[in-house]
Amino acid sequence: MNSLKLSLFLILSCSFATFAEKVLSENLYTFFSIFNGYYSNKVQRVVDELDAEVEDEHDGISVIWRPVEIAAFPDNWTLYLEQSVNGVINRMNILIYSEDEFGVIHGQVLNVKQPIDYKPKQYEYADLTNVELESPTPQPECEVLFTWLEKNVIVGSYPDCISKNNRRTPAPYSFTVTCQTFTAFVCSPSTFEIFARLPYIFYKKRRYELPAQWTEGINFTVPCNF
Ligand SMILES: *[C@@H]1O[C@H](CO)[C@@H](O)[C@H](O)[C@H]1NC(C)=O
Ligand SMILES: *[C@@H]1O[C@H](CO)[C@@H](O)[C@H](O)[C@H]1NC(C)=O
Repeated sequence: MNSLKLSLFLILSCSFATFAEKVLSENLYTFFSIFNGYYSNKVQRVVDELDAEVEDEHDGISVIWRPVEIAAFPDNWTLYLEQSVNGVINRMNILIYSEDEFGVIHGQVLNVKQPIDYKPKQYEYADLTNVELESPTPQPECEVLFTWLEKNVIVGSYPDCISKNNRRTPAPYSFTVTCQTFTAFVCSPSTFEIFARLPYIFYKKRRYELPAQWTEGINFTVPCNF
């Protein structure tokens, strides 16, 4: 073997070694299987209009939570988040997830560069592989945390890192996630989304498959009837 071939061989063996070490834990597998999909709060908006007693209405929000494999972070568990508020894109993020020794799931938030004229739901899986990020470094104070309430119920907190006036102590949103739904309570009137006394209630309209590379060789059962 000449030296060029040898170094190519070494580089390839090293990248295979890294890839082989990337094995999805049951905890993260369950998390990604449950909290994954295209969601909307349309049903709640209908109730808001009928229920004059409640007197506070919610914005119309749709959200994509989609596990994706991206070129910029091939060794991490990444998810694409796209939120539209009344039809206008409000957040486009890549979240990098990891799990600590107590089973708490940590998400680091990165901003995606929004292409000019981007329409909600425009990005397909293939477009996300090379998605462009504003910065490759997450802000530590914007970390998202999730933990388990029951084996198919997740609770979490999500800092509001886009409202500029709240930069120093981002107001959190409080999340509860089940197999088919999630709720998000806006804990502060200063967030972009309308503050309402009841949490936002989202129903899953569509589920996404986990990236094929993530599920190869694993066989976990999700505690949900999808
Ligand atoms: C991405 O994964 C690598 C390898 O497991 C890890 O060292 C790194 O901290 C992860 N990055 C983030 C932002 O979690
Ligand atoms: C996966 O697990 C289920 C339930 O434990 C079992 O019935 C099935 O045979 C397994 N499949 C594979 C491919 O190992």
